[in-house]
Amino acid sequence: MCGIVGYVGTNPVLDILLDGLEQLEYRGYDSSGIAVKCDEEIKVYKAVGKLKNLRDELSSHAYEISKSTMGIGHIRWATHGAPTTVNAHPHTCNCGSLVVVHNGIIENYKELKAKLEKDGCIFRSQTDTETVAHLVAQKYAQTKDLTKAVELATKEIEGAYALEIMHNDEPEKLVITKRNAPLIIGIGHDGYYAASDIPAFIKHTNKAIYLSDNQIATLTKDSVKIQDVDGNEVKPKIEQLPWEPVALSKMGYKHYMLKEIHEQPDVIRNILVGKLHTSDSPVELNEVKLTKETLKTLNRIQVIACGTSLHAAMIGKYLIEDLCGIPVDVEASSEYIYRKTVTNAHTLVIGVSQSGETADTLTAIKQSKAKGSHILIITNRPDSAMAREADSLLSVNAGIEVSVAATKSYIAQLTSFYLLALYMAEIKGSASDETIKNLKSEMLLLPQKIEQILANKDYIQTCARKYSGTRDFIYIARGVNYPTALEGALKLKEISYINATGYPAGELKHGPIAMLDETMPVLSVLMKGSVYEKLLSNSEEAKARNARMIALTNSTDKKLDDLFDYIIRVPEVDEMLSPIIAIVPLQLIAYYIAEFLGKDVDQPRNLAKSVTVE
Ligand code: G6P
Repeated sequence: MCGIVGYVGTNPVLDILLDGLEQLEYRGYDSSGIAVKCDEEIKVYKAVGKLKNLRDELSSHAYEISKSTMGIGHIRWATHGAPTTVNAHPHTCNCGSLVVVHNGIIENYKELKAKLEKDGCIFRSQTDTETVAHLVAQKYAQTKDLTKAVELATKEIEGAYALEIMHNDEPEKLVITKRNAPLIIGIGHDGYYAASDIPAFIKHTNKAIYLSDNQIATLTKDSVKIQDVDGNEVKPKIEQLPWEPVALSKMGYKHYMLKEIHEQPDVIRNILVGKLHTSDSPVELNEVKLTKETLKTLNRIQVIACGTSLHAAMIGKYLIEDLCGIPVDVEASSEYIYRKTVTNAHTLVIGVSQSGETADTLTAIKQSKAKGSHILIITNRPDSAMAREADSLLSVNAGIEVSVAATKSYIAQLTSFYLLALYMAEIKGSASDETIKNLKSEMLLLPQKIEQILANKDYIQTCARKYSGTRDFIYIARGVNYPTALEGALKLKEISYINATGYPAGELKHGPIAMLDETMPVLSVLMKGSVYEKLLSNSEEAKARNARMIALTNSTDKKLDDLFDYIIRVPEVDEMLSPIIAIVPLQLIAYYIAEFLGKDVDQPRNLAKSVTVE
């Protein structure tokens, strides 16, 4: 989704902005632009498409910008208005003196626009953001003080925003503010950075200030002043970022997605360190701040998430209900926030999000927090807005995930759910010692088993290519792997644009079976355990309709040879842990199909890594 970066200091700004935007590219975008303060005026450059187009556009202006040391930049993921040059940020007021970049959505932009038009403002774009440019410029005309103008304007703006604003008459000031969207100030030796995400400036500094909602910061090359929305000064809290200033690298892999799939064994190892030592020692989750007494009496859990995180949450439900006997509801955040949910102080609410910034989940979390629930957040970003709302924070430490399609963050979320379910089961005494011990000893072996699957990737690649010409794809599974089927289908859809759907296999005969013929691939996630035979029968039903059958299985059963055209074998594992094993070949199938089709694997069309609008 949109990304913003700004700088005011003593170094040339152009490379800082372009490098910064490049580090945010992975979030997904469709146009870009920058504004830089040159001698007498602010210059704006924009381009549609990839950053390369902006670089090309700038190549003939490089000299006139080369001395500039202050500017703002933006990559845009279109919400209001098509991805055109006119709609790309930065946006300006009528006379071009004021420029603004914005992440988020101005919800009352129509009302604001009508008022501003009456006052003579002429709108050029279809964006909500342009209202901010005109509104702040209007306030500036009254106050002649950019910080004050932003303060007055934000009192009239409704919605979510991270804003960076410059005015030609205040040549050394960069004013920034935020509400319900991330914005971080980087403190460098050579000036100040401001960005929607840390990778944009981590190369220059790892000292930062997280701006809180409704705060306004005024940055100059040698000072930062923060105030609240009423003008009261706020003392900034400087934090050391837990990040290494390393450039994002594919480490020799063709795509980040493939690299991130290969990182999964280590991701699991990292999570287990310090939490699960041996199968005999209890799970240690000091991050869970609920008392043991509360955990013992807990009678309801709600899990809220979006996208891939929602699939991890669905598996989490299965685990917690099975091991702890506590009823768990799982709901898409976007549904949760618009109905009367029965949530109260006795409900544990778990928010799952790789980015920790997804607007729907953040809003849902805030709603349930206001109702008094304990908030447990499972995220890959301990520095995110959601993490800041958490009463208990399970940071999954998967390392930065660049590919828009989530892989290692999903495995990390799953691993965290296993630990959480085991931890609660041990406290409650709700599962037998033998069950818990078996699961723990199998968990410790998961990284090696995933390595075995990765070693077999050539076979998976061959299989994937066989099906790359299909327009549709069906994934079926039952029980704990039903969400695995959903996630496998989502991965394929996201990066190859093939219409893939996951079904609980028992539902096949209630409708989807009508779709089956000799052109339709059906992949069966056939893990040994309680539903194996049932799923086998469902697969027979699909075979009888001539579907092209693929099995993903840990069974060596000979009868599978007649039933399936392709059999992808994975190592033996307890049924409950099988989702962690089963997802890896499905990620690889999606990857190899998309790669074979020549798709933009890491930045699929229309998708964003972090969706900061509701
Ligand atoms: C976007 C991403 C998905 C992700 C979803 C939820 O749509 O493209 O990969 O699953 O957001 O994101 P979250 O950060 O909350 O897990």
